Amino acid sequence: MWTTFSNQDLSLQPSQLHVWSVCKSDHENRLQEYWDILNEAEKERALTFRFLKDRYCFIIARGVLRNLLGAYIQMAPDQVKFQFGHNGKPYVHHPSQIKFNISHSGDTILLGFVQKHSIGIDVEYTKRKVDVKKIAELFFAEEEVTSLFRLDQAYHTQAFYNCWTRKEAFIKAVGSGLSFPLDQFVVSLDSTKEATLIDTKWDKKEKDKWMLNTIEPGKDYIGAVSVKGNVSDIQSWRYQ
Ligand SMILES: CC(C)(COP(=O)(O)OP(=O)(O)OC[C@H]1O[C@@H](n2cnc3c(N)ncnc32)[C@H](O)[C@@H]1OP(=O)(O)O)[C@@H](O)C(=O)NCCC(=O)NCCS
Repeated sequence: MWTTFSNQDLSLQPSQLHVWSVCKSDHENRLQEYWDILNEAEKERALTFRFLKDRYCFIIARGVLRNLLGAYIQMAPDQVKFQFGHNGKPYVHHPSQIKFNISHSGDTILLGFVQKHSIGIDVEYTKRKVDVKKIAELFFAEEEVTSLFRLDQAYHTQAFYNCWTRKEAFIKAVGSGLSFPLDQFVVSLDSTKEATLIDTKWDKKEKDKWMLNTIEPGKDYIGAVSVKGNVSDIQSWRYQ
């Protein structure tokens, strides 16, 4: 269930996870406004994108991130200072211990915010032509490949994206990027069942510390969010 919301002061309780969905094309008329709040490094990075669609996506995503963080931590959006982990995961140092992550695909940008806990979010446009079998065998754990091909073929694409986004959300929460071994953890992928981290092979108890959730930003998109810790109240907003 999505609620529409614009910029105001926002508050995030320790038990809450806030997920924001942005329709990129709805925000292209605000590019200048977002551009004006980016710092010099972000502007330089924006100009390195060869395709305008990618440049606009970066500017809008970073602009909305600055606006939302500014509203959560009561700071002017252009004053927010990002730091970056070893593998490029952005974060902010702030007493509120706010944590966030972003993903973009096609016309959709997803942003997730929690307090304290590690968070990863992913969204994928599902109408791209992909070789499900080849990619699954290359990237998924053996148990996931088996579960996928046990399903009726009509459900393969949906289950494939469930698995992809859940795995990606998990490694984005960990923050280690491509260096994380994708066969070392197993996620559920059947749409009729809850999103779950089924196995963490290096430590069987690790999986119990995590929450995985499906995000449905709109037709032809599948998303997932992963949080290390307890969040009982998930709120979904559409950023206008
Ligand atoms: C950055 C990364 C973590 C995700 O990239 P992606 O899927 O192309 O892109 P997304 O749109 O989902 O996320 C990009 C955003 O994640 C954030 N990010 C960057 N590095 C990150 C990291 N190490 N961990 C978490 N988030 C990261 C950034 O905010 C970035 O947006 P920005 O460049 O506009 O600032 C990528 O390096 C990666 O490792 N991808 C793994 C791909 C893969 O093999 N997946 C298999 C799943 S089965």
